Amino acid sequence: MYEQISHSLLNDILTQFKQPKGEDWQHFYTRLGANFYAIHSLFQHLYGQRADFKEQLGKLVNVLAQQYAQRAPHLRAKDLEREKNHDWFMQQKWVGMALYCQGFAGNLASMRERLPYLQELGINLVHIMPLCDCPELQNDGGYAVRDFRKVDARNGTMEDLEQLIAAMQQSDMLLTLDVVVNHTSDEHEWALKAKQGDQQYQDYYYMYPDRTLPDMFEAAMPEVFPEQAPGSFTLNPDTGKWVMTVFNHYQWDLNYSNPAVFIEMVDIVLFWANKGVDILRLDAVAFLWKKIGSSCQNEREAHLILQLLKDCCQVTAPGVIFIAEAIVAPTEIIKYFGEDAINAKECEIAYNATFMALLWDAVATKQTVLLTKGVEDLPEKLDRATWLNYVRCHDDIGLGFSDKAIIEAGFDPVSHRRFLVDYYTGRYPESNARGFAFGVNKKTGDARISGALASLAGLETALDYQDQSAIENAMMTIILLHNLIMSFGGIPLIYYGDAVGTLNNDSYLQDENKMHDNRWVHRPTLDWEVMALRNQPGTIQQRLFSQIKQLIAIRKEISAFADLNNRELITLENPHLFAFHRFVQTGMHSKVVVVANFDTSPQSVPLQSFRQKGLFKGAVLTELYSGQQIIPESDFLTIPKLTAYWLST
Ligand code: GLC
Repeated sequence: MYEQISHSLLNDILTQFKQPKGEDWQHFYTRLGANFYAIHSLFQHLYGQRADFKEQLGKLVNVLAQQYAQRAPHLRAKDLEREKNHDWFMQQKWVGMALYCQGFAGNLASMRERLPYLQELGINLVHIMPLCDCPELQNDGGYAVRDFRKVDARNGTMEDLEQLIAAMQQSDMLLTLDVVVNHTSDEHEWALKAKQGDQQYQDYYYMYPDRTLPDMFEAAMPEVFPEQAPGSFTLNPDTGKWVMTVFNHYQWDLNYSNPAVFIEMVDIVLFWANKGVDILRLDAVAFLWKKIGSSCQNEREAHLILQLLKDCCQVTAPGVIFIAEAIVAPTEIIKYFGEDAINAKECEIAYNATFMALLWDAVATKQTVLLTKGVEDLPEKLDRATWLNYVRCHDDIGLGFSDKAIIEAGFDPVSHRRFLVDYYTGRYPESNARGFAFGVNKKTGDARISGALASLAGLETALDYQDQSAIENAMMTIILLHNLIMSFGGIPLIYYGDAVGTLNNDSYLQDENKMHDNRWVHRPTLDWEVMALRNQPGTIQQRLFSQIKQLIAIRKEISAFADLNNRELITLENPHLFAFHRFVQTGMHSKVVVVANFDTSPQSVPLQSFRQKGLFKGAVLTELYSGQQIIPESDFLTIPKLTAYWLST
């Protein structure tokens, strides 16, 4: 949009700006012109009260230009290509895996040698968890960054990463890396300067001389790690000041009410964009703005910061997109795509934490009432926005679905959540699950769940007892969950190790730095001899791997699985079944009905439930995963136990 005030300001800024000679800057200027009104308005809203507002805005534009100057020709070409094909990340061809480089391969150099494994499975998007330099011990699995521009020596070098990126680009694989935007390690250069008393850097954080303001903040702030890091402030002995530390006491929260912090972060985001990263996962975005009297999560300004970050990134590196890591209430998560817009204007991708938690509910209850209700309640997504659908990740499972949905599903929220924690920690009599309670808050009674997918699905217990039918059920549960993240709509993100049924690993208990954080139980170091069993017929690894591989291959052929807001839920009379319809106008398999049975017995449903929606008109149905033809008997469709069908109509 053209508007005089911002336009004349931009002219002032550009007059002082020395454009590097001999380069084609046309695209930079068109994008800056298109986004500057929004950039100026947001910056003004956030920082307009400051005397140095104009100077700060000038610095921001300068960062965008400097980073554009650094952007390699092949990345600029990719930007143009993605501008033309702007739905590129919504296609069903993408299937992701999240992994720790060290746990998966050892380091970045050996990661390159493992790319064939990923390709064998069909993975073409890889999220490598935090790689940056961090303290040896207190690092929260890399989420306490000491240097945002340096690769941690345990992972290798920047050259190793560059070689990996080049190899991935050659194979048409996308790379996702984290930018930990909310906090730094207390050993980051900014924190070290703040500790030395440098006011400029103390202003990068929230530091207070006494408990007055910290007490006021804490009165309304929930604790993120109530067991291992209670409270939200830590006394820094060097300065005698209280520093805001929402996560662990060594993770200092950055203060985004200071524009210098925002500008530093834009520079870091673009630094990684210029390394050739396709997707940036912005960590803990719900926490970006703190306000006394609020929970300090999901504040409006946190959204404005993200919009500004997006607008800035679009000027310099529009081919790069963002994932919002916001594990918050269902109605809040969706806002990280942006509100009051048609296209996503904050992050293009968000973790579908609601769907993930609902799937685990269905596994425990063997019923789909809450799953159906919870999905029904999910607000419609914006265009050019998609979910990351996942079953497990490196974090705990939070039971984040709404109380309203639980009540409507016929349960009491407190006792239902308690049941789920009991179920997954194996305390419930009929449960084979072997997980651990995480983040138990004695004051509120809240708890989350840690544990590897296979152990939560009951495989570990079943193997211990050599109970063949329980082994079958656990394996079928693992496949059922993967089936649904492939078909629901969005990018499926498999967690490393899950495709071969990796179990819990309690070796973290020997490590003093990890023993208090049981999320490490599901952050394995893969044993490649065990991984090799995926090629040995009859092994658990081979049976799981081959089925997941097949799911991936078939997903990629089903055009209806592209995520174009093309899903309709089908409510069935049978409480064990969950069903939805996916459709597109054209393409191979443009109409597919997914029906999943979470019960341990076969379940039937009258065909009429589908026919009244204009589906299943023919006498024969084709199940796309197995290629099987299904002729429903006496007008009923029967789904085997713990199975999901992809039915083409
Ligand atoms: C995110 C990460 C989690 C980490 C936290 C603090 O939620 O996924 O692992 O502990 O941020 O950085």
